[in-house]
Amino acid sequence: MKIAFVGKGGSGKSTLSSLFIRYLQNVRKRNVLAIDADLNMNLAGLLGVTIDEQTLMARPDVAESIRNFLKGGNKRVPDVSKFLPTTPPGAGSNLVCSAQEPGLQPFCVNVSQSPIVNLLTVGSYDKDGIGQTCYHSHLFVAENILSHTVTSPDFTIVCDMVAGTDAFAYSMHLQFDAIVLIAEPTPESTEVCKLYMDLARQCGVDKLIHLVGNKVEDADDIEFISKTVDKKLLVSVPAMPKLKKARQRGEIVGGELLDPRLTQVMRIIENGAQLPAISPAQRLEMLHKLHLKLNEKQWVQLGYGDVADQIDPDFQYLPHLAGAIK
Ligand SMILES: Nc1ncnc2c1ncn2[C@@H]1O[C@H](COP(=O)(O)OP(=O)(O)O)[C@@H](O)[C@H]1O
Ligand SMILES: [Mg+2]
Repeated sequence: MKIAFVGKGGSGKSTLSSLFIRYLQNVRKRNVLAIDADLNMNLAGLLGVTIDEQTLMARPDVAESIRNFLKGGNKRVPDVSKFLPTTPPGAGSNLVCSAQEPGLQPFCVNVSQSPIVNLLTVGSYDKDGIGQTCYHSHLFVAENILSHTVTSPDFTIVCDMVAGTDAFAYSMHLQFDAIVLIAEPTPESTEVCKLYMDLARQCGVDKLIHLVGNKVEDADDIEFISKTVDKKLLVSVPAMPKLKKARQRGEIVGGELLDPRLTQVMRIIENGAQLPAISPAQRLEMLHKLHLKLNEKQWVQLGYGDVADQIDPDFQYLPHLAGAIK
C-alpha cells in the first residue's frame, strides 16, 4: 500500500504520518519506506532520527542517482535528464519493491532495523534555489519513485505530503492507493479539505480519499467537519494535550503516545485504506494520460523534446518483469 497524509499546514500531517508509521512498525511489524515530501521537514524529528543534508532528494546529484537507478535498462528514457514527474515505468525500468531497496539505500535514514523502517526526505530550498525554483520541481523525484514502486502486504510507503492543495501540481495525486485528508475542526482547515475534494473529483481520485478529523474535542467538532467538507469521516483523532508536553520534552512520537485508543484509530485508517479504489493498472493509465497532456506544454517541448515515446503500452506492474530485481 502507498498511503499519503495531506491537509492544511499544521493540521497534523506529520504527527499522524509518524503515528501511523509507528503503528505499522510496532503493532503490525511491517516494513515501511517513509517519505517526507513536505518543505518543512518534520518527519525525521518526530521519528527520532537526524537527516544527513547530503542525502536530501532535492539535491541534483541525489535526484540523478535515484533516476539512474529507476531508469535501469529502460530504453524509452534516453537519459535521466529526460525524466519528467509523469515519466512512467517501462520495460527495463527498476522497480522499488522493498523498504530496503538497494538503489535508494544510500539516501535513506534507518529508523528501525526489524522490521525495517527507512526514511527518505525530499528537502527544502537550498540557497541557490531561493527565488529560482518552485518546490514542485523538488517533488518530481518523489513522484518518479512512487510511480516506479510495487508494494506488497509487507511493504508500505507512507508519505507525509506537502501542505494544502499543492499535491495536485503534477502527478502526486495519482501516486497513492489511499490519501488520508486531515481536517481540524476549524473553517480554515475544512476550507482546504473542501477544495482538495473538489480537485480530487475533477481528477477522478476522490474515491481514494479518506477524511480523518484531528484535534477533535467533541461530537460537534465531528459534525462541523463532515458538514463543511461535505463528506463522512473515516475516524477522528482526539485533541491530545499530552502530545504538546511530550514534544516540549523532545520526545519522539510513538511509544506511550500510541495508546490503545490511538492504536485503534490507526487500525481503522489501515483498514479503510486497504482496498484500493483504483487499481495500479488504472492509475498507470491515468499517469499516461497526464504525461501526454504534459507533453503538449511548451516548456516540455523546449526542454525535453517529444516525450510521448516514454510511454510503454505493454508495461505492467509485476515485480518479476522489472529490469534488475534482486
Ligand atoms: N491530535 C492532536 N492533539 C494535539 N496536538 C496536535 C494533534 N495533532 C497535531 N498536533 C500538534 O499540532 C502541530 C502541527 O502538527 P503537524 O503534525 O506538525 O502538522 P502538519 O505536518 O500538518 O503541518 C504540532 O505542534 C503537533 O504537535
Ligand atoms: Mg508537517
